[in-house]
Amino acid sequence: MTYYALVPAAGSGSRMGESEPKQYLPLAGRPMIRHALATLCATPAIARVFVVLAPGDEHWPAAEMASLGPKLRVLHCGGGTRAQSVANGLRAMAGELGAIDHDWVLVHDAARPCLTVAMVEKLMAEVGEDDAGGLLAVPVADTLKRAGDGDRIRETVSRDRLWQAQTPQMFRHKLLLDALTAAPQVTDEAGAVEALGYAPRLVAADVSNLKVTYPLDLQLAEWILQNRGGGK
Ligand code: CTP
Ligand code: MG
Repeated sequence: MTYYALVPAAGSGSRMGESEPKQYLPLAGRPMIRHALATLCATPAIARVFVVLAPGDEHWPAAEMASLGPKLRVLHCGGGTRAQSVANGLRAMAGELGAIDHDWVLVHDAARPCLTVAMVEKLMAEVGEDDAGGLLAVPVADTLKRAGDGDRIRETVSRDRLWQAQTPQMFRHKLLLDALTAAPQVTDEAGAVEALGYAPRLVAADVSNLKVTYPLDLQLAEWILQNRGGGK
């Protein structure tokens, strides 16, 4: 079994409100994106880690990334949406690697810096050889409300069997590229694969694998990384 990681990092981080894309903001002494890349490069089963940058990205700190070693490959083929960046990255990977139809690709957001090797290995172990693939996710803990007009509650939504999707999301290369080509409007890889009729496996993770979207998330991520006691 061969595993590759693909990290879409061509977004602008508009909800963060900084002039620099959020993946390059400082976090625990490093550019945010370096944390997830370091975890993926440190996962023994992962053969290569591809990062997808926006064409013309001037922020990529090449010198600071060199220490991640030879597994890391930089692609300059980001698209207008996350799904397009991932699809472009999948095509570029195949161009470099050749026949990888049945190999596994773990897609991981550059904006989830608190991923650990243990989380990645749990995902791989629980998905195993299941062609439907799978993803890290967390059962919803809060009570959910659907709003009607004027931010007033219209109804309470049962949280029974509801999960929040995270990344990595792992699928076989060909299946994922076919799925994203057929359903380019999706907001995660699993959504595209579901549309083909598959039922990807939900693998329980925890909220420490948060996505940094707003400024407060960056502070939470910093706290998590600093208080982990070195356990990557
Ligand atoms: N991403 C990408 N290509 C895009 C849009 C997003 O590769 N055209 C990446 C982001 O860089 C990020 C991941 O997809 O690593 C998750 O997206 P999100 O958290 O929404 O990041 P941004 O789109 O950059 O942020 P915002 O939506 O606030 O602008
Ligand atoms: Mg976005």
